[in-house]
Amino acid sequence: MPVQYVTYDGIKFPPAYNSEHSLSFAHNEFLARDDDIFNVTYPKSGTVWMTEILSLIRSHGCPSWNRAVLNSDRMPWFSTHLGLESALSYPPPRLLTCHLPRHIFPKSFSHSSAKVIYTVRNPRDVVVSYYYFSKMCNSYEDPTSFEQFLRDFLNGELPHGSWFEHVRGWMEMKDAQNFFFITYEELKQDLHSSVRRLCQFLGQDLDDDAVSSVVQNASFTAMQENPMCSSILLPADIMDQTKGQFLRKGICGDWENHFTVAQSETFDRIYQDRMQGLNVTFPWD
Ligand code: PPS
Repeated sequence: MPVQYVTYDGIKFPPAYNSEHSLSFAHNEFLARDDDIFNVTYPKSGTVWMTEILSLIRSHGCPSWNRAVLNSDRMPWFSTHLGLESALSYPPPRLLTCHLPRHIFPKSFSHSSAKVIYTVRNPRDVVVSYYYFSKMCNSYEDPTSFEQFLRDFLNGELPHGSWFEHVRGWMEMKDAQNFFFITYEELKQDLHSSVRRLCQFLGQDLDDDAVSSVVQNASFTAMQENPMCSSILLPADIMDQTKGQFLRKGICGDWENHFTVAQSETFDRIYQDRMQGLNVTFPWD
């Protein structure tokens, strides 16, 4: 059955969690607090990973909270109708999550000193991860083929809009004091140093043991074993676990197993063109 996406400001959103009202509320009325910490990503870039990391940092490395409470309650998706209520009743300082592009992020954020942590991932791996996720998540149209899915990604026609516009929009903040940008690839390469840098940005003083515990409990294996973040508790009408796993591979470079030479060349050409003038070098460049 075709999925009726919700559209807001010309961008499609999955209907299971979003409504025009929830998106408009997030954009126009949601009040960002100075002590809010936002985990912002384009889909499939490491959102739930960052949620685990930030919750563990908040708990000084102690995994009890992560093991007892669903990730969506630890860091509510405030722009969805399901997450807004938890966000509004969350005792400050709040940890919040979203996939919103910069231009529809809460307007109140500009007048606050709330912090944003923006995680970016190699878009080639994003599209592969997104392809498998769309197959198992009933709130997304079932992809007809990888070829078509890749074309839609490059044309900015997938739910949550264009990766290029998302990254360009958020990277305009790259020099702001309340903005921290990190890549999935850096997290993979050296999670320990990444956690240290995050702690510094957040003003959280964690000793070596606490940082090691964050690293250990946010590992791919630890997350697979924790039902509070592995998504296996999501209802079957939202996520069909027989069609795949949310924590699928957790690696860098899986795109090489999926792209043909022609697809890779087309991708590179469009990537070069769309990223021109950004003045940021990513690990995959
Ligand atoms: S979502 O649906 O947009 O919130 O998805 P998101 O969490 O952004 O991205 C899911 C991908 O992140 C991988 N992941 C991890 N990789 C390495 N280590 C850890 N700990 C980890 N946690 C999540 C997850 O496996 C998805 O990537 P793929 O490539 O599909 O495996």
